[in-house]
Amino acid sequence: MDFLKVLGIEKNNRGTSTGQEWLGDSENSSLISYTPIDNSAIAGVAVTTRGEFEQVIQKAQGAFKIWRATPAPKRGEIVRQIGLELREHKDDLGKLVSYEMGKIFQEGAGEVQEMIDICDFAVGQSRQLYGSTMQSERGQHRMYDQWHPLGPAGVITAFNFPVAVFAWNAMIAAICGDVVIWKPSEKTPLTALACQSLLARAADGFGHAPANLSQVLIGDASVASQLVEDPRMKVISATGSCAMGRIVAPKVAARLGRSILELGGNNAITVGPSADIAMATAAIVFGAVGTAGQRCTSTRRLFVHDSVYAELVSKLKAIYARVTVGNPLEGDNLVGPLIDKRAFDAMQANLNEMRDKGATITGGERVDTGDSDAWYVRPALVEMPETIPNVKEETFAPILYVFRYTELTDAIRRNNDVPQGLSSSIFTLDMREAELFTSAAGSDCGIVNVNIGTSGAEIGGAFGGEKDTGGGRESGSDAWKGYMRRSTSTINYGTELPLAQGIRFDV
Ligand code: UN1
Repeated sequence: MDFLKVLGIEKNNRGTSTGQEWLGDSENSSLISYTPIDNSAIAGVAVTTRGEFEQVIQKAQGAFKIWRATPAPKRGEIVRQIGLELREHKDDLGKLVSYEMGKIFQEGAGEVQEMIDICDFAVGQSRQLYGSTMQSERGQHRMYDQWHPLGPAGVITAFNFPVAVFAWNAMIAAICGDVVIWKPSEKTPLTALACQSLLARAADGFGHAPANLSQVLIGDASVASQLVEDPRMKVISATGSCAMGRIVAPKVAARLGRSILELGGNNAITVGPSADIAMATAAIVFGAVGTAGQRCTSTRRLFVHDSVYAELVSKLKAIYARVTVGNPLEGDNLVGPLIDKRAFDAMQANLNEMRDKGATITGGERVDTGDSDAWYVRPALVEMPETIPNVKEETFAPILYVFRYTELTDAIRRNNDVPQGLSSSIFTLDMREAELFTSAAGSDCGIVNVNIGTSGAEIGGAFGGEKDTGGGRESGSDAWKGYMRRSTSTINYGTELPLAQGIRFDV
């Protein structure tokens, strides 16, 4: 595994990084990272101690004072350097993502490309942290907004996108003048260490970059809790399940902190009578089967108009039967393993429940690769009986529930009638349908697409969703505002002191 060496991963590794420096003792590597490819141990990592956590927070506070005073375009320069470093190591890091998380190499490399893209976006954004100028109701007054750095930002990421989601947050936070403390999933710690080394390399030689600009903590939920509960963390951006969000959100709220939450999805594609069926089929398969159904944007539900149901479902079944499942780093496999046995058990439990309720299931069985502790599955297509109009829970596995509909308004109602609100799309060539779906009376999700699937969003848009998805936005558009504080200033350059609202207060 050359890429491990190139990325600086040893058999045992120190886990806590303050930027240029690693803390702790690699001999205490108690967290072992296993590859889901064959469940063999890749390497060990030492978890962050309380003392190390305190050092990291204090260094973050010191670095913030320097970084917030650095002009934003200069902050962008280091992000540009990070982008160059990532370009150079795209294949190595992409392979490590595949190896540690299990997604196919195409998708591992795609994730690194998302990092590169957000670096480019952030460099441009560093010259565009615009505030508004407002018209004052008083003469000789000027009123305007300024956006200032907020403070240390905590970024908690999930196993399924071990690097892209970090970069969406960290690169934007960096140009906004915040320093970042990253707590990656304990299922993908090595990818985080590799990124940290690349970031440190990019920072080398940058005179104006403080040493502790981006730091890493390794550990389980208890380490995340320390971060989340610490009032010195001015914003917490957390990506993961709705269950995780229900723990994080109240903790941050209890100290009146700011959180950006990107939680579970239950994403649906609606296929209308006029849809281009070939395009819809390709998008559905990528959305439902890609990343073994382990994206927060994975397509989980399908609402198909009666008139195209038979054609679409028979096409999907043919593809589901031949889609290649196996080692994500070998050949042309399209589906890698599930992350662990728990994910496999949850998938099987859900399929059994659906079967008991009368669903017809194609696929879903375990694919034997000879490794008793590797969890490969054939994706499952589940045709739902009329008696079950919807599925409201997210099972993080390649399960696609297929429903029929007759009226678009009914499909939209069912699209929305779930707790989550991340991503949605419609396939239609009818502009009335497309406009209705994207209107205020349409899909209630954060991502609402037309003739594109639910997954695979570009970094330039704001990413996130409503309801139990948490309401936060990361990545592009104006999501940067979440990492800054706004000050509104009114300047009086006259010689009178008129009060707003015309109030007279003569003293
Ligand atoms: C996630 O699954 O948490 O839109 C992120 C997508 C990717 C990001 C997914 N760009 O599918």
